[in-house]
Amino acid sequence: MCGIIGIASYKDISKEILESLKKLEYRGYDSAGISTINNGEIVENKCAGKVSDLEKLIKKTSLSGNIGIGHVRWATHGAPNQANAHPHSSEEVSVVHNGIIENSAIIKKELIDKGHIFKSQTDTEVVTHLITENLKKMNYLESVFETLKKLEGSFALGIIFKKFNNLIVGARRGSPLAVGYTDKEKYIGSDSYALNSMTKEVSYLDDGDVCVLTKDKIEFFDKNKKKIEKKIHKLANDEAVYSKGNFKDFMSKEISEQPEVIKKCINEYLDKIRKEINIVNFPVDPKKITKVNLIACGTAYHACAIGKYWFEEFTNIDVSVDVASEFRYRNNKIKTNELYIFVSQSGETADTIAALDFCKKKGAKTCAIINVTESSLSRLADLVLPIHVGPEVGVASTKAFTGQILVLLLFILKIARNRNEIKEEEYLNIIKDLENIHSKVSLILNNKKIIEDLAVDFIDIKGSIFLGRGLSYPVALEGALKFKELTYLHAEGYPAGEMKHGPLALVENGMPVIVIAPKDRFYEKTISNMQEVIARGGKILLISDHADEVATSENIWSEIRIPKIHKFLSPFLSNIPLQLLAYYVALKKGNDIDKPRNLAKSVTVE
Ligand code: G6P
Repeated sequence: MCGIIGIASYKDISKEILESLKKLEYRGYDSAGISTINNGEIVENKCAGKVSDLEKLIKKTSLSGNIGIGHVRWATHGAPNQANAHPHSSEEVSVVHNGIIENSAIIKKELIDKGHIFKSQTDTEVVTHLITENLKKMNYLESVFETLKKLEGSFALGIIFKKFNNLIVGARRGSPLAVGYTDKEKYIGSDSYALNSMTKEVSYLDDGDVCVLTKDKIEFFDKNKKKIEKKIHKLANDEAVYSKGNFKDFMSKEISEQPEVIKKCINEYLDKIRKEINIVNFPVDPKKITKVNLIACGTAYHACAIGKYWFEEFTNIDVSVDVASEFRYRNNKIKTNELYIFVSQSGETADTIAALDFCKKKGAKTCAIINVTESSLSRLADLVLPIHVGPEVGVASTKAFTGQILVLLLFILKIARNRNEIKEEEYLNIIKDLENIHSKVSLILNNKKIIEDLAVDFIDIKGSIFLGRGLSYPVALEGALKFKELTYLHAEGYPAGEMKHGPLALVENGMPVIVIAPKDRFYEKTISNMQEVIARGGKILLISDHADEVATSENIWSEIRIPKIHKFLSPFLSNIPLQLLAYYVALKKGNDIDKPRNLAKSVTVE
């Protein structure tokens, strides 16, 4: 998955393209490139590495032009080197692409037989050569449509032409593409975030659509080449929140924002006087829901795993939790009286979108819990519940996870109350603690120095295990995920009770094992599992709200005490030290905090 930008302007666009590419780096940062039309020629600049490397290259070579396309790459076909970086250009045309051309090998062979010479190992280069071939016999628009007919897979494309040097063509199938308007310039971008600083007016291409931009206008065509109109959406003015402020990196800023975003999100959903949760327009009558299916990827999947425990605690509804990439290809029996809930920070994750699409096509009702409200997922779902945490830039998700579990909990409580399956007293107790939870998160954040000091001891470890039971099991999974993505050290999240069926064999003298054990009904059992680890030499970091001298004893290496909270709300607190631990270990190792190696914030390929 990659990021695309294209600008048609009356003035030189090199600076604007570079700035947009910096914003798109959350989609990939293996390599970057730009093509412009300059003096009637296509001029291509590209390199391996980040946009800052491209910026240095461009300073040396100089770049100008009123029409241009740019790209940041997350490698799928071919190593992240200069040859494979986009754009891919011929004499006649230059192309940027997000997605995968599944039949590229076959097309490539046909084109080589016709005499085309390929410079890269990418699937994208076939698009360049196909259009070049078609341009011999047809105009630019026909040549694009003819090319699209041959392509299988998913893509968003940005294309510029040597001979048609005042326009950009955009096309979409499967991967998102937005267009933006101002009086003097027109844009294409992988998402509205990339366009936000230049325009507040955007439209979105649907699958099969093609658009043609000049500086003065945008024309849209559907897959049958019929001219169509597009709705214009207004973007919110939230540029300021994209800055790091006084923080070293976005991740530390986003971790520290959590008390505020919790307060904001609760304000959005909770009527504080009537203690009512304001969620209406259920796509399925809550009383008639027979089963709930929670589907997501990565951190959002862990949020869903927590949601399963809450659904089971507060309602009598059956629940399943699935990773979207598995769900979409299983022989699922989709039913119309079941509710399908999709959780996603970006709303652009390819597998999550495909899973939702699959359910919709079978007539099921869908609900999306998302952060980016101007996203593909939010346009597709029947009910959209925003998490209101503001833009999350760090690749490792932190505040979005907190927002996801918060909105899931509110949604579940609302359904439980609607079905009369939660006792009023329990409901009110949870709401009361929720209203106060931000101050407890602040308390943990104020003591982050303790975790920073502990982090030194993790730098040279071989690996670690994160353990929990009940609600703390998905917290352990999320803690281990955060730890490995940031520190590049192996970490495994496991149900504490399952340790003895395998992972206990990994434990040796001094191996760090992080145990998450709030005082809930699993506490004693988790502590017993912890003792099994201690007996094998494991070095325990215990995260608990309970002072229990006898159970914990002097065998514990270290303990992080979190504030007491309602037993069903513990994930909101126990997850915070795990975020901080991963952050400080990565910082001490000198890793790139906001852009861990090999990863991307928004995974738009399956
Ligand atoms: C990527 C990100 C993760 C995220 C996952 C799902 O792997 O690096 O932080 O949890 O995608 O993304 P979504 O936007 O759907 O929540």
